[in-house]
Amino acid sequence: MPAHTEPYANVLETIGWTPLIRINKLTQGIRTPVYAKAEFFNPGGSVKDRIGVAMIEAAEREGRLRPGGLIVEATSGNTGVGLALAAAVKGYRCIFTMPDKMSQEKARLLRALGAEVIITPTAVPPDHPENYILKGRAIAAAHPNAIFADQHYNPVNPEVHYRTTGPEIWEQTTGKVTHFVCAPGTGGTVSGAGRFLKERNPKVRVVAGDPLGSIYTEYARTRQKTEGHPYKVEGIGGDKIPTSLHWDVIDEWIAVPDKDAILSVRRLAKEEGLFCGGSTGVNLVAALEVARRVDDPQGLVVTVLCDTGERYLSKVYNDEWLRENQILETERVTVARVLEAKNSGAPPLISVAPTATVRQALNLMSTYNVSQLPVLDGGDGVGAVSEPALMAKALEQPATLDQAVQEVMDGPFPVVDADLPLERLTALLSRETPAALVRRDGRIAGIVTRYDVLHQLAGIH
Ligand SMILES: Cc1ncc(COP(=O)(O)O)c(C=O)c1O
Repeated sequence: MPAHTEPYANVLETIGWTPLIRINKLTQGIRTPVYAKAEFFNPGGSVKDRIGVAMIEAAEREGRLRPGGLIVEATSGNTGVGLALAAAVKGYRCIFTMPDKMSQEKARLLRALGAEVIITPTAVPPDHPENYILKGRAIAAAHPNAIFADQHYNPVNPEVHYRTTGPEIWEQTTGKVTHFVCAPGTGGTVSGAGRFLKERNPKVRVVAGDPLGSIYTEYARTRQKTEGHPYKVEGIGGDKIPTSLHWDVIDEWIAVPDKDAILSVRRLAKEEGLFCGGSTGVNLVAALEVARRVDDPQGLVVTVLCDTGERYLSKVYNDEWLRENQILETERVTVARVLEAKNSGAPPLISVAPTATVRQALNLMSTYNVSQLPVLDGGDGVGAVSEPALMAKALEQPATLDQAVQEVMDGPFPVVDADLPLERLTALLSRETPAALVRRDGRIAGIVTRYDVLHQLAGIH
């Protein structure tokens, strides 16, 4: 089916009619088909392009916004992009307030589109004047010919999804959709599209994913506003109750931890070639759970790929950030790992008896190309010898070569447990202590030298 066969008058005409794409790999073992509405295909890279132009045009129609006017919004970024695109085409000025937990990329993008961005603190209560929404509202009130787009409370937001997103999903699935799974931020998408689909077929179940920490899931159950706690996924969940979120449309809530959401959206990029942000991860986890439960090849789960992953390169797609936020565990390399990685072809532990001669010890070191040896007596480390020290002694006094090792040896190498973290061993080793014996299951199982540790750290095997 060819798309874009006609030229467009401007970029705004390209918003919507995003593709519906089947999820193939993440669904392995699940019989219910799962499809995703790829909203990152919109020109601004997110689902929010739909509401940007719609809110502006509604304000124009109502006479609240006249040529040369100002558009203000409190936005985590994507709505700003949608508004800024439309403002650019239509010639309006934009000011956006944005909480500081949001990606730097998003603020830069808004500025690139000609908007002014004011960053506000995330960690303030919703009624604090520095809260991004109250601040945005105050800026709009202080300017003539200005609107506060107000996505959380603007009825145009769910309405545009009722008019566009919902009908598109209905047509693209030829009315076969059985479940619509979508996490609300403002609630516009799930409320508008969900309501449309239910009107077409009252059997359609609407399921809302919600980041763990958001107050929505609890509010849906008790109608009580709770405190909530911070979470990392951007653009969805909330700490206030927006009117663009229509609670009656949603049949079920699924709370999703940051870690599950982020790991699943990273898989989506690697395994399906669909590169999206963290909120998409919440949608995916919830959609897969629904599909697993439905367990019916005749079912059809539709979820939403909210925005492009390019907006999260410094976060969701940055391993360091994930480790800092305990989303990826730092792999604990142990001494045992170093021992296993030793790949010299030599037996794991070359040692000499205290009664062996210095000559035998030097021979052994030369055969196995090692520069030190532990001296073991009945499985216990009783001393150590090193090639440079023995050579120096033998050169000074050739008779040393026939002496027993125990007469010339240095003190034993320290003994460490195989599951000791590597960094603890690194701290122990020095020029004076070039190696340690490794104890596993109560016996000495090998030796790890400074050289081995260096190889491990440098990733040489
Ligand atoms: C990245 C992202 N995903 C999802 C959403 C949720 O969409 P809605 O506000 O329509 O509920 C938003 C909204 O802010 C968003 O920015």
